[in-house]
Amino acid sequence: MFCKMKKIVVLVSGGGTNLQRIIDCVESGEIADAQISLVVADRDCYGLERAKKHQIKAEKIPRGKNFSQELISILPKNTDLIVLAGFLSILPAEFCNSFSGKIINIHPALLPKFGGKGMWGNHVHEAVLKAGEIESGATVHYVTAGIDEGEIILQKSFEISTEETLESLVKRIHEVEFEIYPEAINLALGNK
Ligand code: GRF
Repeated sequence: MFCKMKKIVVLVSGGGTNLQRIIDCVESGEIADAQISLVVADRDCYGLERAKKHQIKAEKIPRGKNFSQELISILPKNTDLIVLAGFLSILPAEFCNSFSGKIINIHPALLPKFGGKGMWGNHVHEAVLKAGEIESGATVHYVTAGIDEGEIILQKSFEISTEETLESLVKRIHEVEFEIYPEAINLALGNK
């Protein structure tokens, strides 16, 4: 039976280990019937190199007020899903609204806690440790105009150990992310 390949576009700003996981899962079929049509970064970053190594079209659009218009101008026709994987620019409300239900993000904490403006990277982990939380984890959610406020697709938690450091927390969160992001992408694509 003919099966249309779904088109994924991934936005990155950094090292792109989540992007790598997504690439690997698309290649292995764990993310089913999909292709990564484009990777876009808002700055020079290793994520772009990862895409190129896998012959995936990779473009840089400098962060700033024209980002979303420029992104729309190169977005493949009939893109099914825009996946934010360590993407640090805030997408304008208009863009989020016009692609409602088609943009997802992964956040390195248990939303709705430790989300919102300024809560990215180590700021999140430092806040979690400072608050003496007994658990942390990762959350995949739809992207809406409110930062980190969209509907949750998947979330996974673990207990924070008494020996936990910033470094160990970052590592454990990445492990959880690598587990739940492919699953959440399948869900958002309607694969499972
Ligand atoms: C991840 O922890 C993700 O939750 C957050 O940014 C980080 C990106 O890491 N949004 P990487 O670039 O995928 O390694």
